[in-house]
Amino acid sequence: MARHENRPETAREAAAGRASIAVRPEFRQGANAGAKEKMFEIENVTVSYDGQPAVKDISLDIFKNEVTALIGPSGCGKSTLIRCLNRMNDLILGAEVSGRLLYHGQDLYGPKVDPVQVRKMIGMVFQKPNPFPKSIFDNAAFGPRVLRMKDIEERVEKALRCAVLWDEVKDRLDQNAYEMSGGQQQRLCIARALAVDPDVILMDEPCSALDPIATGKIEDLMVTLKEEFSIVIVTHNMQQAARVSDRTAFLMVELDATERSRWGRLVEYDETEKIFTNPADSRTEDYVSGKVG
Ligand SMILES: Nc1ncnc2c1ncn2[C@@H]1O[C@H](COP(=O)(O)OP(=O)(O)O)[C@@H](O)[C@H]1O
Ligand SMILES: [Mg+2]
Repeated sequence: MARHENRPETAREAAAGRASIAVRPEFRQGANAGAKEKMFEIENVTVSYDGQPAVKDISLDIFKNEVTALIGPSGCGKSTLIRCLNRMNDLILGAEVSGRLLYHGQDLYGPKVDPVQVRKMIGMVFQKPNPFPKSIFDNAAFGPRVLRMKDIEERVEKALRCAVLWDEVKDRLDQNAYEMSGGQQQRLCIARALAVDPDVILMDEPCSALDPIATGKIEDLMVTLKEEFSIVIVTHNMQQAARVSDRTAFLMVELDATERSRWGRLVEYDETEKIFTNPADSRTEDYVSGKVG
């Protein structure tokens, strides 16, 4: 596919790519934030583990039908922040979320909100593909069955087609998912999330465990999926953020005066093109140009 030709394939090219990252114009649709519908409004969100803040005072809006990338060095709180968006931090003992987080204008942490319903609408895909030790079909059918949805077979096919996996697996739906390649497993996990008709897909470093070809397939998929869904992706790969996202948030670790406590802060959030070509903050510039990181 054409876009693979633009992907840096070697370490040398990848390193060279750090200084000047190509931002493809077709991924820049929706750059006009004023006209965009807000999916999430994150207002002064702080997340602490056992009383220690991991990210502090994060505010940003995430828009519908866009790919939003969260980038920044390890430990700056990217996973912590993305987990706030479907209340996955609720499942972590000692985690506490403060501030305000609106989803379609409603308080995501309001007393009447059912976190299970939240996780249906806002699906998540992790770094390491985590299919269940079941057949391909049963993996894709898992969510719809739990939620007692109808037309399971149709849903499974639609989800597998949406994840661009159908043609590869349609003749072996009964095969165990563990027999698939890593890239196929990750697309199956995406299909599993899609099968319950979500609204948003969160992806935390979805390509870290994949080879460049499988990575390219997932990247292509993200660009197609955003027409129907909204996507938030954590990536440590800046070329990937530049290639697939419309908007990028850059987070960094900040130390307190004693240098004993550290937490993540949002440094800059803007259209991806601006972040990679003309960022407002010199720390963003240093990070995206590879001077630090
Ligand atoms: N489950 C957890 N319990 C305690 N501390 C955590 C937990 N998850 C993350 N942290 C801490 O929160 C900070 C941010 O981590 P994380 O969100 O994983 O960052 P990133 O994804 O950017 O690498 C780190 O200091 C990390 O040690
Ligand atoms: Mg992480």
